Amino acid sequence: MPAALSPIDKAKFVAAKRAVDYVESGMKVGLGTGSTAAWMVRCLGEMVREDGLKIVGVPTSTRTAELARQVGIKVVSLDEAKWLDLTIDGADEFDPELNLIKGGGGALLQEKIVATASDQMIVIADAAKEVAQLGAFPLPVEVVPFGWQTTKALVEETLASLDVLGQTTTLRMNGERPFLTDEGNYIVDAHLLRIGNARQLSLVLNQIPGVVENGLFIDICDIAVVGHGDGRVSVRDAASGLCEETTIEFVEHDNIFTDLGE
Ligand code: A5P
Repeated sequence: MPAALSPIDKAKFVAAKRAVDYVESGMKVGLGTGSTAAWMVRCLGEMVREDGLKIVGVPTSTRTAELARQVGIKVVSLDEAKWLDLTIDGADEFDPELNLIKGGGGALLQEKIVATASDQMIVIADAAKEVAQLGAFPLPVEVVPFGWQTTKALVEETLASLDVLGQTTTLRMNGERPFLTDEGNYIVDAHLLRIGNARQLSLVLNQIPGVVENGLFIDICDIAVVGHGDGRVSVRDAASGLCEETTIEFVEHDNIFTDLGE
């Protein structure tokens, strides 16, 4: 029930609730991954079930696909949808230009493909995700399992010549085994502390043969919807620089606060 939600969950919920205002019937919508995106999927599910909203959703992970189906959203693949009107997703960090670090949940590859195939991307986040400069959150780098140790060493060597503060990397684990992405790849987390030139870093990392993709989203996000624990939500438009703040009354809903997993 909402009363039991922590301030951080309330912040995530109000960001999600505000962001779904951008969704209209007939749209093809990219559905992000993570705890904030899960609120958004639940909100959309409620709109489908109760308001007759007609959309198709393209999930960015198997767990989002499962949740979307559970709440009543019609799920199609990106290849079926081809191009999307809008993608709404969470982030681990965002900067004033709305460049992002994503992939804390390991879904960065599908998330980047889906966001890039969308007319518009909206990031939803609690206010703690906003930073002046990216890099405190470890940057996820998806690598193919073949030769991963060599790739990891090459990533570290590459970092030594770039404008970052830290250069260590760690293989993401799931218990005793390497964490596996939906594409069957590994994640190497780069502990950079501060990223001086995110655009350059992203380009250089992706030139290493064993690297599939990295979690920097540069010039992909159009709008940030940022929630606070007291119900305030700010909407920032990267292109126009416009920033508007509203407050969402936190009312009890029957369906979306029940435990649907995630
Ligand atoms: C998933 O791989 C990520 O990109 C998430 O979008 C990101 O980690 C944010 O997750 P939360 O909303 O759970 O913080």
